[in-house]
Amino acid sequence: MRGIVKPQVMCLRPYSPGMPVAELERLHGIKNAIKLASNENPFGPAPAVVEAIRAAVPDIGFYPDGAAHDLRHALAARHGVSPDQLCIGNGSDELIQLLGIACLDAGDELVIGDPTFARYEPQATLNRAVAVKVPLRDYVHDVDAMADAVTPRSKMIIVANPANPAGTYVGDAAIERFLDRVPESVLVVLDEAYYEFVDDPDHGRSEALCLVRPNVVILRTFSKIHALAALRIGYSLANRTVTDWLEKVREPFNTGTLAHVAARKALQDETHVRRTLEANRAGRIVYAEACARLGVKAVPSQANFVLMDLGRPEQPVYQALLQKGVIVRACTPLGLPNHIRVTVGTPEQCERFVTAFAEVLAP
Ligand SMILES: Cc1ncc(COP(=O)(O)O)c(C=O)c1O
Repeated sequence: MRGIVKPQVMCLRPYSPGMPVAELERLHGIKNAIKLASNENPFGPAPAVVEAIRAAVPDIGFYPDGAAHDLRHALAARHGVSPDQLCIGNGSDELIQLLGIACLDAGDELVIGDPTFARYEPQATLNRAVAVKVPLRDYVHDVDAMADAVTPRSKMIIVANPANPAGTYVGDAAIERFLDRVPESVLVVLDEAYYEFVDDPDHGRSEALCLVRPNVVILRTFSKIHALAALRIGYSLANRTVTDWLEKVREPFNTGTLAHVAARKALQDETHVRRTLEANRAGRIVYAEACARLGVKAVPSQANFVLMDLGRPEQPVYQALLQKGVIVRACTPLGLPNHIRVTVGTPEQCERFVTAFAEVLAP
């Protein structure tokens, strides 16, 4: 049987998501567990979005609009681009995979940060390309070093901005200098899954910076600020040529009707977005202050999670938090031993984490 599978597939490891709440409750016989491990929006989608999904349920017997026409046009209007500059994906995860399928080949190099989002490196492996890992500098993507890492074999660079698991952000000015240094023969992918959570003043120009350059792709998702993670919907913004490559390799019905209607509705709901942002900003401060009290280093975050350096192996702390019904992300598997990553929850969830964390760390 081993001869059937491609050798590179044998090198891959299945993605290991955070433990589901139901599993923790079953394993430890507890109730009311909370999950702060997958950077979801703790408030869930806006009520109007849920209503739109309900109204569309009778349509699920029919195939979705494979071109996602209405959503694509709504997004095009929102971003001031042409609809053929957008590819709609089954989450931005799918778009990362499609970029790999379309562009990476044997011997090509994919330049990524180290550590970074776990879904980038497998695209290199799967397509027999090589992942060139550039260490973060003080938890921030070292975009100068990433530009220096470009060789004649480089095909693609992926920068998660804000970064995951670090939560740090590279400002527009530094991104612009970086893009100026990367040759057009290399595709630069800016994965902006947490874009909306950034409040750094040097933010908000990435579309203007990117879309004038033929070799830049922006990825966005409805999974985070819009709380549609279970519906799997994200999109890329790029020029027509790159978008066309993605359209050629995506499945014909890669995104579903419920996701289309939910995403369109979510785009209109600014109140829910504002509420989420305010709670997130406050929650980041709650975590930072708790870490300062507890002698834990909190990495300054521009996302909806905070990375914490415990200065000692994180497994005992992670396990003790589980016992208290709080699921966070243990970061050794993400390349950061001694760290946990904690999603900003509702105000009540943030307090619950802080209380449990203080109890666990108490001597
Ligand atoms: C940096 C980054 N990119 C992409 C994704 C995937 O998001 P989606 O749910 O749109 O597939 C995530 C999810 O956590 C992420 O952290």
